[in-house]
Amino acid sequence: MKFLSTDSEKSDLKKTGLFGAGGDTIRVGRGIGFSLSDPNGAMAMELKAVMMKRRSVRRFTEEPVSREQTETLLHHAMSGPSACDARPWEFFIVTRPETLEALRDAGRYTKHKAPLMIVVAGNMKKALPMQLRDFWIQDCSAAMENLLLSAVDLGLGACWEGLYPMKRMVERVSKILNLEEHIIPLGMAAIGHPAEDPEPRDQYDPKRIHWVE
Ligand SMILES: Cc1cc2nc3c(=O)[nH]c(=O)nc-3n(C[C@H](O)[C@H](O)[C@H](O)COP(=O)(O)O)c2cc1C
Repeated sequence: MKFLSTDSEKSDLKKTGLFGAGGDTIRVGRGIGFSLSDPNGAMAMELKAVMMKRRSVRRFTEEPVSREQTETLLHHAMSGPSACDARPWEFFIVTRPETLEALRDAGRYTKHKAPLMIVVAGNMKKALPMQLRDFWIQDCSAAMENLLLSAVDLGLGACWEGLYPMKRMVERVSKILNLEEHIIPLGMAAIGHPAEDPEPRDQYDPKRIHWVE
């Protein structure tokens, strides 16, 4: 929480409009709240709950995702880390029924009918040079994960639908969105009000942990 140490930093954060105005308490979206004067306790617990609750949601009601919720999702997506702080991401927001349908038809596993699709793409003009270029995949993946967690926090559901590195899927979606050559879609998030509620689960597996002496 060092980054919130000065009054001007706290005030900048409040200016984003994502946070409640009440005293020193910062409320992120619907669920994650923490106090600036005591930043360690509450947030860690609630963030854990959001992470455990995040499951792929593939069935949605027809209720639209509001503009405000969409902006919040994007604020959180863009708060992710990126190699050398390059931020090589672009976000394409789709709510038009015809375009949503075209995106659903792009693949076998993209059929989920959601009122909002956010396509996360890498901008090769902003990506790092030479052998560092492929860091765009990790940068955009971090943004995508933030989107999914933010959706949970807003009481929405979401499913990551992978595009890159499937060449045909990338080509199809690029065509549907009329993307320029230097924009590569990594994946799309189907987002909406959930019509299913998958059980939260803990995938912790000690066998996958290798303590290096
Ligand atoms: C890179 C990536 C691509 C994925 N692509 C799809 C997809 O095309 N369609 C889909 O229904 N789910 C997709 N998923 C969701 C996974 O199937 C899901 O995360 C996994 O089964 C674990 O379930 P959970 O998300 O509920 O924890 C994708 C997930 C990732 C990370």
